Order: sequence, then C-alpha cells, then structure tokens
Amino acid sequence: SQRPEERPRKQRLLVVANRLPVSAVREGEDSFHLEISVGGLVSALLAFIAFVDDLIQVITMRCIPVFLDEQIVNQYYNGYCNNILWPLFHYLGLPQEDRLATTRSFQSQFDAYKKANQMFADVVNRYYKEGDVVWCHDYHLMFLPKCLKEYNDKMKVGWFLHTPFPSSEIHRTLPSRTELLRSVLAADLVGFHTYDYARHFVSACTRILGLEGTPEGVEDQGKLTRVAAFPIGIDSDRFIRALELPEVQEHMKELKERFAGRKVMLGVDRLDMIKGIPQKILAFEKFLEENPRWRDKVVLLQIAVPTRTNVPDYQKLTSQVHEIVGRINGRFGTLTAVPIHHLDRSLDFYALCALYAVTDVALVTSLRDGMNLVSYEFVACQASKKGVLILSEFAGAAQSLGAGAILVNPWNVTEVAASIGYALDMPADEREKRHLVNFKHVTTHTSQEWAATFVSELNDTIVEAQLRTRQ
Ligand code: G6P
Repeated sequence: SQRPEERPRKQRLLVVANRLPVSAVREGEDSFHLEISVGGLVSALLAFIAFVDDLIQVITMRCIPVFLDEQIVNQYYNGYCNNILWPLFHYLGLPQEDRLATTRSFQSQFDAYKKANQMFADVVNRYYKEGDVVWCHDYHLMFLPKCLKEYNDKMKVGWFLHTPFPSSEIHRTLPSRTELLRSVLAADLVGFHTYDYARHFVSACTRILGLEGTPEGVEDQGKLTRVAAFPIGIDSDRFIRALELPEVQEHMKELKERFAGRKVMLGVDRLDMIKGIPQKILAFEKFLEENPRWRDKVVLLQIAVPTRTNVPDYQKLTSQVHEIVGRINGRFGTLTAVPIHHLDRSLDFYALCALYAVTDVALVTSLRDGMNLVSYEFVACQASKKGVLILSEFAGAAQSLGAGAILVNPWNVTEVAASIGYALDMPADEREKRHLVNFKHVTTHTSQEWAATFVSELNDTIVEAQLRTRQ
C-alpha cells in the first residue's frame, strides 16, 4: 500500500467570503454564543458542509476568521461595499451627497477596500498548499483575485458574484471601474447567477477596458478569463425534511389556528432598499382599498431581518417601513385583527419552514436581486399547499422560476395589486401546475450542484502560469 505521503492528497477547496457562516453573538461581558449567519451567501455556503447534527461545531472547526479593525470595517464594509458597490450594482446609483465630499471619502473608502482585500489574501496565502483551489465570493472581494495571483501566479482562483452585475453604462460611473475589472480578470473563472449579468460584465470589459469579448469570456493579450453563468440553488432536502419534524409541525398547527379563516401572504426579506418592501406594502394597501371583500380575509406577514444597521440609508428605510405599516394597519385594522404583521427580526429555521408551509401567496418583489433564494425556499416547502409565488422580474430567480410564478414589475403598484387578487383567487389546478414546474426546478438545481459545477469548471481552466512552466 502507498505510504501516506505518496497518496494523492484530496483536493482542498478554500472558500473566501466576507461573512463567516457562523456569527458570535454577545450574551454578557465575557460570554457569547454562536449562531448561523443570515443571508443568501451563507445559505449557499452551507451546501459545502454535510448536514450533521451539530452544524455549528463542524463549521467552526473549518473556519478561519480574518480580523479587521473597526476603522477598516467602517470604511470597507459600511462604506465602500454597502454604500457604494451594493447600491450601484442594484441600479440605485452612486451616493448623491456633495460632490467633493463624496470624491474624498470615496478614495479613502476604496483604499480601505483594497487593504481589507489584501488582508484576506494574506490569510489565504498562509493556508494555501499547492494543488488547492481558491473560490472568492462576492462584491466585497473583487480585489482579491489580483492580490492572490500576485502572491502566487500558479494558484487556481475563481470568483463568483452573488449580486447582479449591472449594465456597463452603470458600471462606468464608478470612479474605480478600471481597477476593479482588472483585478477580477486576474481570476481564472468568473461566475454570475444569470447569463445577463455575465453579458454585462463582458461588455464592461470590452467597452471600458477595450479588451476582446469571446464566447468563452474575456481575452487580454492572449490570456483568457472564463466568464459564465452558474445559477445558484438551495439545499432543498434540508427544507423538505424539516417539514416532517415535530417542532415544525407544532409551529404549523399554531399558525393555522392563529390565522384560521384568513389567507396568509408572506414576505421574508433582509430590510434592504433593494428588496422593495415599501413598494410591496403599498401594493397590498392598494389591493385592500380596491377589494373590500378581502379586508378581513387576508393577512400579510412581513419578516424584515435587520441588516447593515450602521449604514444611514438602512436606518431611514426602517422608519419608513414602520410608518407605512402603522398607517395601513390604522386604516384597515379592526379591534381584533390587523392586515399586516411586520416583524423586525429573523426567525429560526423551524419557524421559517413552518411559515413557508402554511403560506398561500409569497410576495418576492425585489427592485433588483442577484438571485433571491427566499423564492426557492418557499417553493421547497409548498409540496402539500401548492401556494402561489409572486416574483419580481428583476430578481435573478425570475429566469429560473418564471414559468411557475406570477412575474411582476415591483415598481408598478397597480400591477402588483392586481396580481395579489389573481393569486388569491387562482383555481387549484392552475396552482398545482405552476407549483410543480417550480418544485421540480428547485429540487434538481440545488446549491450542491451549483458548487460542484463551478468547482469542476474551475478545475478545467488552465492557469496561464502553469502552462508557461510546462512549455
Ligand atoms: C447578500 C450578499 C451577501 C451578503 C448577504 C447578507 O446576499 O450577496 O454577500 O452576505 O447579502 O448581507 P451582510 O452584509 O449581512 O453580509
């Protein structure tokens, strides 16, 4: 038999992301507990880890934190990532404050962004062993591929964007447009959720950098960076299995009793401008206004998970949403019931599954969204109810779940209000047909399959430096 050192080493995948899949939550002065973090990226990354009882323990064993000080976090995460790149990539434009101030803070935030990316690169480089494959995630780490290749040009590096990549006309307004594109192009494989995002990225490289776009990707002086679409999914079995658990069944029973005689509509979003929460609630108000017969027969449960609370725009959004919900409940509520239940917090996994399962109509009306996995999670939990999904045409998921969902333009409040009526009255056979197409998609295009496809394509790319050494 081979001695251990002669055996081919199992290939290691180093996944690099801004947020760890576990968060430390402070309990007291010196104590804290660990929780699974919230967000699309985290649910995707969980797919790498086999489902085991003590998920948290397994995750922590395999995680390596990158420590950033408060000042860097403020400039890099609150500033450059979430005040500049995030809104821009979702078509909300650059911040509109006083021009000079923006330019000045822009530069220091971009410097902090590069510094933070370099700190991630240092940690990766410390753990990297020859033969490892490195997968960088999202808009926080666009500078990372370049930093990694500077350390070691033989490193195999992939980069994946979880948000939309906007039209090149939007990207070109960004002062650091060139530097960011160039550093992403240092990767061997660049992935997006949809074909449109990949196309926008290639156009940005051809129009802004003057490079050549090919069906394979982008070419720069003979070096090809592969660019392709890899639509993400969820671990659908995890949701389907959870529905059988007594805890979930118990939650379902309570919810059914609580809302007996009323149809349940559901929204689950991080409290983010891109999710279109105010627009959704206004559409619901219009629906109630125009359909008095539904007023005491339907309830909207809106779970709004607080997020990025240090960024001023997010603080403004919270009070805006509270104001609208209060007004509508005042207008249409009775002494015993209100039309909107709005929660400013996340739910645990079991409560969430139960909620998905008892819902009649889910409202996913993002103004822009890279993919939106809430729509997938809802479909996975609807095997018996076969409820309706109302889905924004500006979510990446519209390209995969469009066949079964009712697609809407979230800016068009009249259209969304009409779709709510259509969904609530939809006959059972149409609901069933629509549900089945989407259920099939969600259970076959899983996050495991997404990750495996990306990594195998990354493995198939040829690292230029290795090619040169072999020649
Ligand atoms: C989106 C982004 C992720 C991010 C998540 C939660 O899904 O693409 O990268 O992790 O939102 O946002 P947060 O800022 O809390 O990590």
